[in-house]
Amino acid sequence: MSQELTLQQRMDGEGGSDPLRRAVKEAVAALAQAAIDISDLTCRGALAGITGKAQGRNTDGDVQKDLDVRADQIIREALGALPIAVLASEEMADLEILNPAAPISVAFDPLDGSSNINTNMSVGTIFSIMPTPSDASAAFVQPGSAQLAAGFVVYGPQTSLVLTLGQGVDIFTLDRVERVFKLTGSTVQIPPNATEFAINASNRRHWDLPVRAYIDECLMGADGMGGKDFNMRWIGSLVAEAFRILIRGGIFLYPGDARDGYEEGRLRLVYEAHPMAFIIEQAGGGATTGRQRVLDLVPRTLHQRVPLIMGSIKNVQRLEHMHTAPDVALETNAPLFGHRGLFRV
Ligand code: F6P
Ligand code: MN
Repeated sequence: MSQELTLQQRMDGEGGSDPLRRAVKEAVAALAQAAIDISDLTCRGALAGITGKAQGRNTDGDVQKDLDVRADQIIREALGALPIAVLASEEMADLEILNPAAPISVAFDPLDGSSNINTNMSVGTIFSIMPTPSDASAAFVQPGSAQLAAGFVVYGPQTSLVLTLGQGVDIFTLDRVERVFKLTGSTVQIPPNATEFAINASNRRHWDLPVRAYIDECLMGADGMGGKDFNMRWIGSLVAEAFRILIRGGIFLYPGDARDGYEEGRLRLVYEAHPMAFIIEQAGGGATTGRQRVLDLVPRTLHQRVPLIMGSIKNVQRLEHMHTAPDVALETNAPLFGHRGLFRV
């Protein structure tokens, strides 16, 4: 038996008699239990009847896979009996009001990265816990900075749970033998300056100038203004990219672009960008739309999309600088200004 603290033991000090903190602790424990069940399904795949095939679309138009639906049911069952005011899921068109007098409300993306299911690649679950305001139906009309806790699970070669309660970030690994999460990383810190970027580069022609300029700077590597060679990764699962960034730094971008329906990018503010931004900031990184800090945004609608750029703080600041100082972006975009360019000395 390994000696690491279990998630339960780690959280034992949390809560005490404060009903708000106790509710958070219970919700996290229930989400962790649900994640173990979802992990079983992802591991067994076709043997558990998981095909990864589309089953239809959710009410917001996204293709829904069998695992999306099962994961949503598992999480709702796990949370259903707890003191929770409102639930919001990527798979539900509207809020589900449970007990409006309860202190907390939970938003979740039950199965992130579902296009990866049938390719045996990492997928995950993301969650965000908010205090319930006096009008419970406004639980998710609060800035991301109001979150009490946020986390995500990666169902990869290991099943890992990343958690913040607003005082740093812990990583837990699922012990499959004992069926509990155990603490394998605490007070995680993202390296401030890194040389790995993640973006779906097939959309380059649709990006706006600052994003194109930043990525071109990365691609020019040691020959460009940044003066350093970069490496690229794109897994197509937000959870897996975020986990990689927590471990070794880098920058992830899903910006808005010129395609129809992608003006605000692809990711959802309430249950993707807000929790990720909370976790990344708690680990010393940054999360921005390019122009605004993600945690300052107040959602207008439940399934609102938002550009998300997150990761190592220096890289994120450089990208923000390109948004606010268009001259820098213009200059970087001109090959003549590279190290080997005509106007570079
Ligand atoms: O939840 C949306 C998502 O699956 C993310 O996990 C991932 O980052 C993104 O979509 C991938 O989008 P695309 O297929 O456009 O690259
Ligand atoms: Mn998702």
